[in-house]
This record gives sequence, structure tokens and C-alpha cells, in this order.
Amino acid sequence: MLVRLIYVSKLAPDLDYRAIKDILAASQRNNKPRGVSGLLMFNSGFFLQWLEGERLAVKERFARISQDPRHTAPVLLDYREIIKRQFADWNMGYLGEGSINKATFYEYSGAEAFDPYTLSGESAAALMLAFSSNIPLLKSNNG
Ligand SMILES: Cc1cc2nc3c(=O)[nH]c(=O)nc-3n(C[C@H](O)[C@H](O)[C@H](O)COP(=O)(O)O)c2cc1C
Repeated sequence: MLVRLIYVSKLAPDLDYRAIKDILAASQRNNKPRGVSGLLMFNSGFFLQWLEGERLAVKERFARISQDPRHTAPVLLDYREIIKRQFADWNMGYLGEGSINKATFYEYSGAEAFDPYTLSGESAAALMLAFSSNIPLLKSNNG
């Protein structure tokens, strides 16, 4: 049974983007053996993450991630059963600062400033799909 979970959170105040390197390394190390794939976006101090995989594996990873002091205020935006993965090649794909432009964000949100807390679950999913397919340089990290 495959599920997808999307949540939003904020980078902890005393950290900067360098913490993200460690987060990605841990994600790739831990997600692969558990069959978890997905996409992490970071912009303007906000994280938006899509996790997909077996229901139990996703639940367990999200429980772990929620406790991580490197971010605050995680809010679940979307959780559903899915028939296939969207990001099978990425144990955790990454789109960083600068990969989101305001005009595109505005298409999915009521506000121009990037604040993913304002998104519905469906808009968050559509936004992530739109950005992921727009970035040809984003490489598979499955290897
Ligand atoms: C925004 C954010 C996203 C994260 N995403 C993942 C993830 O997809 N998979 C994962 O295993 N850990 C993720 N982590 C890290 C976990 O919270 C945890 O620190 C890590 O899995 C522990 O790894 P270790 O036991 O190998 O040290 C994330 C942390 C943050 C702050």
C-alpha cells in the first residue's frame, strides 16, 4: 500500500542552508533502505516535503522527521493513498532557494510571497510536480 504525505515546516531560527546538506545526506541514507522516495523544497526559510512509499515506512519517517530540532512547526498538508510513485528515482530530490519563482507560486496560492503554509494539500502537490518537471538539472540520487 503506497501513500504520499506532504508537510510544511520552517527552518529553525539559528540555522542556515548549510544544515540542509546534512539533512539531505541523512535522507538519502535512510530513505533508500526503507523504500521511501520524494522531494524536498527549501525557499525563504520554509521547507515543503513530499514523502512517498509504504504506509508504515512513510509514517515512521515522518514521525522521526517531525521531532527534528532543525525545523519547527511541521504542519501536514496532504496524506493519501496513491497508485504509483511520482519520484521513484529520488530517495530525496532537492529543489533549493531560487528554484521557485513568485509568479509560479502565485498560480497556486492566494499570496505572492512564498509561504507554503497558505497552500492546500492539492495545490502543494501540484506546485511540487510543476517545479520538479521544470528543473532538468535535478539529478537522480538513487545510485
Ligand atoms: C526538513 C527535514 C527533512 C528531512 N527529511 C528526511 C527524510 O526524508 N528522510 C530521513 O530519513 N530523514 C530526514 N530528515 C532527518 C531526520 O529528521 C533525522 O535527523 C535523520 O533521519 C536521522 O538520521 P540518522 O539516524 O542516520 O542520524 C529530515 C529532517 C528535516 C529537518
